[in-house]
Amino acid sequence: MSLFVVKKSGPLNGEISLSGAKNAVLPELCAGLLTEEECVIKGVPPLNDVFVLIDILRKTGADVKYDEISQEARIKAAYTGGDVSNEHEAVKMRASFLIMGPLLARNGSARLPLPGGCPIGSRPVDLHLKGFESLGAKIKQEHGTAEAKGAKLKGGYIYLDFPSVGATENIIMAASITEGVTVIENAAVEPEIMDLINFLNKMGASVFCLGNGTIKITGVKRLHGTEHTVIPDRIEAGTFMAAAAVTSGDIIIKNAVYGHIKPAAAKLAECGMTVDELEEGLRVYSTGKRKAFNIKTMPFPGFPTDMQAIFMSIMTIAKGTSIVTETVFENRFLQAGELKRMGADIKTEGRVAVVEGVKKLTGSHVNAPDLRAGAALIISALAAEGQTEIGDIYHIERGYSRIDEKLRAIGADIKKIEEETEERDKKDRNDLGNTVSIPEKKETE
Ligand code: UD1
Repeated sequence: MSLFVVKKSGPLNGEISLSGAKNAVLPELCAGLLTEEECVIKGVPPLNDVFVLIDILRKTGADVKYDEISQEARIKAAYTGGDVSNEHEAVKMRASFLIMGPLLARNGSARLPLPGGCPIGSRPVDLHLKGFESLGAKIKQEHGTAEAKGAKLKGGYIYLDFPSVGATENIIMAASITEGVTVIENAAVEPEIMDLINFLNKMGASVFCLGNGTIKITGVKRLHGTEHTVIPDRIEAGTFMAAAAVTSGDIIIKNAVYGHIKPAAAKLAECGMTVDELEEGLRVYSTGKRKAFNIKTMPFPGFPTDMQAIFMSIMTIAKGTSIVTETVFENRFLQAGELKRMGADIKTEGRVAVVEGVKKLTGSHVNAPDLRAGAALIISALAAEGQTEIGDIYHIERGYSRIDEKLRAIGADIKKIEEETEERDKKDRNDLGNTVSIPEKKETE
């Protein structure tokens, strides 16, 4: 098992850069299926989610090249007729359902495994499917798959019961090459969706955000290839902001966009941090002791659910009582149990968590329960006395590229202990005739 080993650190100090936004890259890779011409996407971070999606895109028949060094992906989808209805990875990775809209519009039909539930909630895809129905597609769900058929789709009117990010993206993509005008009301308007819209419009689409959650798409006959650089990852920015907060640090987050992280900046101001907008990004620094604050997660421009766990880590050591209300997912306090192992005082009931700030956290062995809950454990570990060992870090690496290296560069004491290294060392020792029952952990820096 690979681990992050983190010791109490700080105050963090220095400059840190953001990767391209995972949640923008994933739909944009899918949008590459909408044209036969080559699309080039720059700033694609080398994340496990990206690798899994690229594999699935290749199964559709698209030619996808990815260069980890230049972080550039090239998609040329001359053919998209490959069968992906049995892709097990697609069941595990919900974002892969975003190929449904492009495949339906491009091929006249699409059949995909229904994504499974996940620890944070049941996560249905009914809104995606309702959207396709409004474009005239016939939907069939059987044997764990969803099929959408519609050789002659037509623009339609869609009201989303909830501003779902994925449903909004899937419908926009399908409608972009569907004849007629499509209007989505109560659409999600996250910055990643705006970036997808920019990308599609560069491909020749006609998508406009009319304000008040209304998006209008005028279908065009075909899209063409283009080049696009993805926006910086605002959730990664929030993670580094929280790292500065728990260590009373002073950091510059290069290329962070203030407009994308306003709710997080507002909460930091409430808890005794200052966020200054600079030409090169944001300066985040401590201007006092951490004070309790409350969070209610909401669709953008509300406080993002993806930063909820990370900001709960700040609350655990802030003076006073903080309250978190999670309105987006039904079970997104998976971090609480692990934080309690580190000495945090958290009570959860349904969608509400009450966090009583404690004087100190203590290092423990904890496991990342999911991506953002895992990131929260890193943040808390930076403030915890002694050493914290974080297991199951594959969850964290689904969404963060080189988080240990980046944090180390601003003074964090964090090391990654690699599974492969352990296994190789064990094998080497066995090859030399040594019997080793417990592999010695090797640190990689
Ligand atoms: C995206 C993000 C994820 C983020 C979430 C909310 C990507 C790849 N992932 O996920 O990091 O946490 O937005 O900001 O961009 N819902 C339905 N029916 C549907 C679709 C959604 O009931 O058809 C519900 C979900 O169960 C959930 C809520 O709507 O409770 C929000 O989900 P949604 O916005 O769709 O999230 P994702 O697109 O899956």
